[in-house]
Amino acid sequence: MLLSVENLIVKYGNIQALHGISFHVNEGEIVTLIGANGAGKTTSLYSVTRLPPPEAPKVVSGDIKIHGQSILETPASALVSDLKCALVPEGRHIFGNLTVMENLILATYSRDKSIDFNPEMERVFTLFPRLKERKNQRSESLSGGEQQMLAVGRALMTGCTFLLLDEPSMGLAPVLKYEVFRTLKRLNEEGLTILLIEQNANLALQLAHRGYVLDTGNIVAEGTSSELLGNPEVKKAYLGG
Ligand SMILES: Nc1ncnc2c1ncn2[C@@H]1O[C@H](COP(=O)(O)OP(=O)(O)O)[C@@H](O)[C@H]1O
Ligand SMILES: [Mg+2]
Repeated sequence: MLLSVENLIVKYGNIQALHGISFHVNEGEIVTLIGANGAGKTTSLYSVTRLPPPEAPKVVSGDIKIHGQSILETPASALVSDLKCALVPEGRHIFGNLTVMENLILATYSRDKSIDFNPEMERVFTLFPRLKERKNQRSESLSGGEQQMLAVGRALMTGCTFLLLDEPSMGLAPVLKYEVFRTLKRLNEEGLTILLIEQNANLALQLAHRGYVLDTGNIVAEGTSSELLGNPEVKKAYLGG
């Protein structure tokens, strides 16, 4: 098992955001956490990736394990460099005043400098040809969809084997949503494990192998994507009937 989250209780100050949730991701899977705004999706993800305070939610009890080892005391930097996890945060957070290439190169900073990163850069450009066309452009001049592609490309440049994405479809035109999701499918077929957080349950369940439904800090349903797509309660609440 790549990731296991066990009975996780998480608070922001006195506010309890997660009420003892458990979920797991096997190597090679695409797993999705779906749920409405405020359900606790981002909190679940940030509990794993441990952004520095003040955003960091506090784990009160439970455990988070990667390859069977607890990571509660593991610094976020080691999660990237040693455990090969990379986050694509909500809102992308790319460096707008740097070019596309500069953003991609920056992501390699914790890696062995003797590596030739050109083949990996070419792979990103093959996955996202739009980025290649714009490689010397300042990133702030990219469209939202192109910035999302860059955020995924940047995560890949860390050399990750596990990609965690927070609402990659948010704010994108439908055609770009499908382009990003098609690329995620392709990356998974090439061996990348993916945890996908999405409000767009339909889209997420079309891509993922399995999913969990979060509602106000609790997991209220789980199963294979086809089970969830066929679940009457899930249909009614999250799939537009
Ligand atoms: N930095 C924060 N401080 C206090 N409460 C927060 C913070 N971030 C999120 N929350 C609360 O935690 C709950 C879950 O939020 P979040 O994980 O962002 O949900 P989602 O990503 O599913 O929309 C919400 O009630 C939200 O108001
Ligand atoms: Mg969120």
